[in-house]
Amino acid sequence: MIDIHTHILPMIDDGPATIQESIEMCRIAVNDGIKKIIATPHVQSKVDNEGAIFEKIDILNQALKQEGLDLVIFPGAELHLNDQLLHADVLKESRMLTLNGNKKYILLEFSFQWVPPETEQVIFALKAMGFTPILPHLERNFRVQNNPGILIRFVELGAILQVTAQSIVGNFGRASKKCALWMLRNSLVHVIASDAHSPVGRPPVLSHALKVVSAMLGEDSARKMVLDHPKMILEGIPFVS
Ligand SMILES: [Fe+2]
Repeated sequence: MIDIHTHILPMIDDGPATIQESIEMCRIAVNDGIKKIIATPHVQSKVDNEGAIFEKIDILNQALKQEGLDLVIFPGAELHLNDQLLHADVLKESRMLTLNGNKKYILLEFSFQWVPPETEQVIFALKAMGFTPILPHLERNFRVQNNPGILIRFVELGAILQVTAQSIVGNFGRASKKCALWMLRNSLVHVIASDAHSPVGRPPVLSHALKVVSAMLGEDSARKMVLDHPKMILEGIPFVS
């Protein structure tokens, strides 16, 4: 499996506090069947430490080799809607603001409390510039939970929707689970990712959700969400669904 949304680099955001914790998370991922991970630290308004972030990725990848763990970490970021980074030049110049620096896919979150009214325009504008926004964990958004039908338009405009594995198994409460299952039943989930933050509590685990989705929609559909589609995203291959 490939996990496209994780906070796995040490001392960079609200993810692990030490390299040991990062390695522990990686060990959990390997045991879960994950082979590739995109590190997507929260980034807001400006990135002047890209070099430091790449250094952390290199150090972690080296440590994984030394530990004999069959896992590779790739660069990425989780951007916030409305932030100043959403300009074609900025996105194209960066090696991490688009996932794996592929200049195609952007992980774009917004607050859990509301859906910004300009969301449709932003999706449209990004697509027109050649970028595809991946909208994470909308099943946890209060507005979406009350009116999940708004997601249909986002997908029609070309956004990719990513549901968090722990929502599917109920770890974020009933409303998130209900919304995630509704999205799955209505073919509104392209990708499942862990959004891992820690070895305990929010670990990089996808297999539990994979099991639930396999039982619901069949193994082929479930595999697409944790392998085929994430691979396309990692490699910057255009999405046709
Ligand atoms: Fe995240």
